[in-house]
Formats: sequence, structure tokens, C-alpha cells
Amino acid sequence: MPPIPKNAVGARFTGWGRALPPKVLTNHDLEAMVETSDQWIRERTGIERRHVGGTTAGLSIQSGRLALAMANVDPLDIDALVLATTTPDRTVPATSATVQLGLGLKCGAFDVNAACSGFVYATVVAHGLIAMGSRKVLLIGTDTLSRVTDWDDRNTAVLFADGSGAAVLEATDGPGQLLAWDLDSDGSAEELLFCDIGGTIFMEGREVFRRAVRIMVDSAEKSMAVAGVGADDIALIVPHQANIRIISAACDRLGIPMARAAVCISETGNTSSASIPLALFDAADGGRVSPGDLVLLVGFGAGMTAASAVIRWGN
Ligand code: UT7
Repeated sequence: MPPIPKNAVGARFTGWGRALPPKVLTNHDLEAMVETSDQWIRERTGIERRHVGGTTAGLSIQSGRLALAMANVDPLDIDALVLATTTPDRTVPATSATVQLGLGLKCGAFDVNAACSGFVYATVVAHGLIAMGSRKVLLIGTDTLSRVTDWDDRNTAVLFADGSGAAVLEATDGPGQLLAWDLDSDGSAEELLFCDIGGTIFMEGREVFRRAVRIMVDSAEKSMAVAGVGADDIALIVPHQANIRIISAACDRLGIPMARAAVCISETGNTSSASIPLALFDAADGGRVSPGDLVLLVGFGAGMTAASAVIRWGN
């Protein structure tokens, strides 16, 4: 992707929030549903438990409200709502319409579907809106994959779950947080991972795994090259939480130690569009990022999309 124009208006995250449905499904619960074991799931995926339930709009309203409160922003001052989701509550209208009403926003609202890369796609789009004159954008990544999971299919039932992460992005007079970004997709891989309307998710797990590592590394390297930074400069990598072995292989190839990776998959499973904001804001709330730190977001997903962004963490 081209470098960000030097005179583009910059933006920063000024507040964030996370939401997980209260119902927890453990690996032991899954043992009673499909032929699997707690040990297999832990060792092959890194997942121990996941949260399931709720709607995409409901979870988005929860995380969005927390983000607005933390940023101390009046809902009426939000200029646009961007909701990344691959599991809208309805085909029409966009789920962002329900969220807009629920949060009391008076602004344009739209959904972005880039599967598990969704939050990074939406982050880039939100920065673009700020460059075009918006001052405050609410950005949410939410998925309720439990509604499109075949609970008799052990290839997918052990992985997918529900959650939401939100951020308020505000224009800044000084330098913005986004140093570089990359968005990719490869429609020829559509049949490896899809969900028909009204259906459940089909996935060729082993092939998705193989490609995931490659496309995450490619995308991250492109963003780092445009930002002019190397692996040693990255204080925190926030990868899509699909499988701990994918995260570990990607970090290994990028030369970033796992100690510098934000990982919450053991508690959340794969929440698609929510996975990167859940991991990022979990790390931020845990004090793992300091002002000035470079943070690398990198995701991949159905489509097959890949996306990355290098961000300089603000105050
Ligand atoms: O968000 C993006 C989308 N998804 C992903 O990123 C997922 C990418 N893929 C993966 O994470 C992994 O491929 C899986 C977790 C889906 C599967 O792990 P794997 O290490 O690739 O397993 P495998 O398909 O190579 O199967 C290994 C063995 C097989 O048994 P045999 O043939 O060795 O006897 C499978 O039948 O594990 C068996 N197996 C299971 N056993 C217990 C497959 N799934 C399960 C299971 N529980 N849930």
C-alpha cells in the first residue's frame, strides 16, 4: 500500500471497550457435544474456554458504550459508525443501523465485512473518514459466530465464539497514530472458508492454517516496510486470535518473540472481527503498551483477506 500522505489529518484511539456474553463454554462442555478432548483443543489451538450468546448489535452496543464513556465523548458528537462484522443480525439493514439507534448516535453508519481481518479493515476506513473531515468515528468489531457454527462439526465447533471490541477514533492536531497499513484479499480461496446465507461455517482447516501464516507475515512485512520499522521496533504484535500455533508460527517468521504478542485466545476462542480489538484492549487495560510504543495489528480471514497496520500508541 502507498505511504500515508504527510498532510493527511491524523487520528488516535481515545477510548475503548470490550464485551463478551456471560455464557461460557469450556473444552469439557465440548467433550459432551463432539468427539474431542480438552487436551487436544488446548494443544492444537490454545483455547480453553469461549463465550457464546447474544446478538451482534447487542454486544456492539455494550462495547461501544464503554468506548464512548472512556473517551468522554457525547454520542451526538460521533460523525460516523463503522461496524466490522461477518455475522450481521439481519441481511438488511446493516447491523450498524441497530447499533446507531441503541447508542443514540446521529450519524452515518455502515458494516464492513472482511471476516477476521474486519477490525483492521475498519481501522483503516475510519482513519480515511478522519482524513476526509470527520472528527470522531466510532469503530466496532463484533461477531457472533456461535450462531453460524455447526455444533456437530468438531473441525469448527471447538474454535468459534462470540465477542465485541470498540474504539473511539478522534482527529488530532499532532501526528496521528497510523504509520502504515496494508489490506489484501484473494477471492480464489473462497471455497476454503465460507458460510452460505442461512447455513453454517465450512472450513478446510489445515489449508487455511498453511495460508494464514504466509499471508499474515506478508501483510505485516509490507506495513512494517512502509512504516520504515523492523521487528525489533515492535513493542506489541496483536494478531488475529485463530489458533495459538498460527500466532506462534507468524511471530517466529516475523522475528517477534511471543512475549511481545497480545494473546487472549485461551479465554475467547476465535471471535473473528472482535478478536484483534479484544486482544489489543485487553493488553492496553493490562498496561502492556506505553505512549510511543509501536503496535502491529495483523489479521487474516475468509475471502481470503489479510490486513495489517502499524500504530504508534498515544497517551
Ligand atoms: O479465523 C480464521 C479461520 N480459521 C482458522 O484460522 C483455523 C485454521 N486451522 C486450524 O486452526 C487447524 O487446522 C485446526 C485447529 C482446525 C485443526 O488442527 P490441525 O492440527 O490442522 O489438525 P488436523 O486437521 O491436521 O487433524 C489432526 C488430527 C486428525 O486425526 P488423525 O487423522 O491424525 O487421526 C483429526 O481427525 O486431529 C483430529 N482432529 C481432532 N481431534 C480431536 C481434528 N479435529 C479434532 C478435534 N478434536 N476437534
